[in-house]
Amino acid sequence: MDILRKLTNYREEEEKLRWEGTFRDYLDLLKEKPWVAQSAHSRVYNMIKDAGVEEVDGVKKYRFFSHQLFGLEEALEKLVEEYFHPAAKRLDVRKRILLLMGPVSGGKSTLVTMLKRGLEAYSRTEQGAVFAIKGCPMHEDPLHLIPQHLRSDFYEEYGIRIEGNLSPLNMLRLEEEYGGRIEDVLVERIFFSEDKRTGIGTFSPSDPKSQDIADLTGSIDFSTIAEYGSESDPRAYRFDGELNKANRGIMEFQEMLKCDEKFLWHLLSLTQEGNFKAGRFALISADELIIAHTNETEYRSFIANKKNEALHSRIIVMPVPYNLRVTEEEKIYEKMIRESDVADIHIAPHTLKVAAMFTILTRLREPKRADIDLLKKMRLYDGMAVEGYNSQDVKELKNEYQDEGMFGIDPRYVINRISSTIIKKEMKSINALDVLLSLKEGLDQHPSITPELKEKYLNFISLARKEYDEIAKKEVQKAFVYSYEESAKTLMDNYLDNVEAFCNKVKLHDPLTGEEINPDEKLMRSIEEQIGISENAKKAFREEILIRISAYARKGKRFDYNSHDRLREAIQKKLFADLKDVVKITTSTKTPDEQQLKKINEVVARLIDDYGYNSTSANELLRYVGSLLNR
Ligand SMILES: Nc1ncnc2c1ncn2[C@@H]1O[C@H](COP(=O)(O)OP(=O)(O)OP(=O)(O)O)[C@@H](O)[C@H]1O
Ligand SMILES: [Mg+2]
Repeated sequence: MDILRKLTNYREEEEKLRWEGTFRDYLDLLKEKPWVAQSAHSRVYNMIKDAGVEEVDGVKKYRFFSHQLFGLEEALEKLVEEYFHPAAKRLDVRKRILLLMGPVSGGKSTLVTMLKRGLEAYSRTEQGAVFAIKGCPMHEDPLHLIPQHLRSDFYEEYGIRIEGNLSPLNMLRLEEEYGGRIEDVLVERIFFSEDKRTGIGTFSPSDPKSQDIADLTGSIDFSTIAEYGSESDPRAYRFDGELNKANRGIMEFQEMLKCDEKFLWHLLSLTQEGNFKAGRFALISADELIIAHTNETEYRSFIANKKNEALHSRIIVMPVPYNLRVTEEEKIYEKMIRESDVADIHIAPHTLKVAAMFTILTRLREPKRADIDLLKKMRLYDGMAVEGYNSQDVKELKNEYQDEGMFGIDPRYVINRISSTIIKKEMKSINALDVLLSLKEGLDQHPSITPELKEKYLNFISLARKEYDEIAKKEVQKAFVYSYEESAKTLMDNYLDNVEAFCNKVKLHDPLTGEEINPDEKLMRSIEEQIGISENAKKAFREEILIRISAYARKGKRFDYNSHDRLREAIQKKLFADLKDVVKITTSTKTPDEQQLKKINEVVARLIDDYGYNSTSANELLRYVGSLLNR
């Protein structure tokens, strides 16, 4: 479908969704769909909930966020369960300003933008529909038309609680345009849109001396004062501040703590009392979620100031820390690169992973437990299986420090380094070494890195480098085998047949001659030795494996190459040991003979076809591994 067609469709959709009627019609509609009268907080919560939740390892994963925010599951769960959910239930937290606090580039703005864009889309759905008094600049809730003294009756009939008073402007319109007949007031369905300034607002502080409160609460329209005769006529007022426009939806308050106090007080009365003061009018009711963000330093200095105490107790702070998992960090980089101008560059496999390892290391504190080093901790946090440790250990590690995720390298720094490498070198392809080098060079330019910190970070870069060396070697060795998985499986099956015969004290049948033969002790030992199993321990190891197999069989599961970590490691090492010399000689020779050349081409082809390299990065990898093996 071409874009013009899509545009037409969009307009037609919008036409279909449109609804207009009198207040009387709206009341009928409410009987059918009472949820459309929900509060702004409740709408936001339902939007998040309706997108779906799954539970992974005891942590809730909200689908609403999961395609753009990575590794923040715990923070988001806290945010939803401790703010959005109770706020939707009209509990007290909704009367506080929601302040997201976290380190730079930690996804705060992204989170708020998702809520804003999400709400725009949600208001076009059946569940998220919003209705307002037609022609009202603040898209006021039609239910405000119901006079106070009838609200308990209304509650009895409809089960809907009404909060807030009719605004001065609509009060006047009710008299002048509708002769006081509430049931005739026109109501329409509205669609949130930040561009059209409907239900979504953004306020960002500028110079406090010149910034006007009108940006928040609107201002007198001098051109119409003459017409209406007085400044206190609401028709002579433009309700076009961010607080007005964001009514019914959400307002983002950027860099809240940089803002002048007088602005903050307006917000406080709005959140606390549900109304704010504009011009010379009675208080104006508004129903909106206010979400602000700030970084930790600003927040600390804000609460250190005694003057801010009253404000402080009216704010609810939710941390948005950095992600601490390598795989999730990789996804962040992938996303940021996809969205950038360098999206078409070839990034060799493992490049982003290695960069992510460095980043995560800078965000972790040294474990207190002596048996766990930083790398092990990094792996455990990432959910990798580390022999001898389980999820309880991970929990303990996480509880050791409360401030992890609040410091370290930010994702934007990494992406900046990657792009500058690409641009500077005009490269069509980059690999892990390029990126590590660039990260290292960039440390000098980073404004907030002290010499001690730099020392530490350099150390992390070399740790990440060592990890990469291992990955690179494994990759090449794998690519040297015709079909790695197949070979590993064959070797393992062979080993298991022999182990079974050994434990049951029986003989094997030679598949070719049908002859009875003894278990191949040499083969079994050559595999077991790879992981340091001694002659004395071999029997116990073999029996353990058989027990594992029968446990699998009982549960109806297949025991395969991945079912036993140590056995897999042994098989892998054995395969590599057999190959080592070939790999070493082939990759490092300056003048390959015909045979070697053929092998190299074969391996390069496999790296390209099966492992995601291109010819530049595959050749770079081979050369690098050659140099590693010859050290
Ligand atoms: N956990 C994360 N998941 C996905 N993307 C992330 C995450 N953290 C940061 N990013 C990405 O990093 C970039 C910077 O994030 P964003 O601007 O939202 O951060 P911020 O907390 O508002 O930073 P600042 O304090 O500088 O305003 C964005 O491209 C964002 O998508
Ligand atoms: Mg931001």
